[in-house]
Amino acid sequence: MFITLEGSEGSGKTTSMNYIESWFNDNGVTPIVTREPGGTPLAEEIRETLLATRDEKMAPDTELLLMYASRVQHCQSLIIPKLNEGHVVISDRFNDASFAYQGTGRGLSVERLTELDQWCLGDFKPDLTLFLDISVELGLSRASRRSAPDRFEQEAISFFEKIRQGYLDRAAAEPERIKIIDASGSIEEVQQNIAFVLEKHCSSVIK
Ligand code: TMP
Repeated sequence: MFITLEGSEGSGKTTSMNYIESWFNDNGVTPIVTREPGGTPLAEEIRETLLATRDEKMAPDTELLLMYASRVQHCQSLIIPKLNEGHVVISDRFNDASFAYQGTGRGLSVERLTELDQWCLGDFKPDLTLFLDISVELGLSRASRRSAPDRFEQEAISFFEKIRQGYLDRAAAEPERIKIIDASGSIEEVQQNIAFVLEKHCSSVIK
């Protein structure tokens, strides 16, 4: 089973990722936990290129192609082999992020993005996606800045509004796969919501 977690700034994605991993451990399954962009040594090099700030502006198509270069590497050398071995794989972000960030956020055509997605992944997609939803205002006020903001974190509020809308539209189009988790409550409330979704959709893979 391939599960992905998506969320905006300040949605508590890292805490939730840890919770999902421990939920599986508590249910007798040790999942493979990974992330995008990144997840393999080469894909992590691409991540560094993507997140670095520099004077030269990165063209939106360059950004998209690098995201998919990282994703193909990640799928071919880690995700698909691990799924074939029977593991549960959980990725912190996957292709829905490209539709939200590069599609709705940067304004790239969804048709072209869909073609690229098909070219790179075929029909491969997550079995279950959890989208941690929080208002941009609350999310940004919660976001802890432990280090200097990366290239994405430096964007204007309007960019994050578009991304949130992009995720919500995608969830509305694929309600069976993408589950919206209200991330505005306390950690306990968010974890209860996550557990509810996992219990409902992952019962066949736990022990
Ligand atoms: P992270 O902060 O969740 O580790 O992700 C790094 C940044 O990359 C984050 O700002 C979201 C962005 N991103 C995209 O723009 N498109 C993508 O396809 C992915 C996977 C991430």
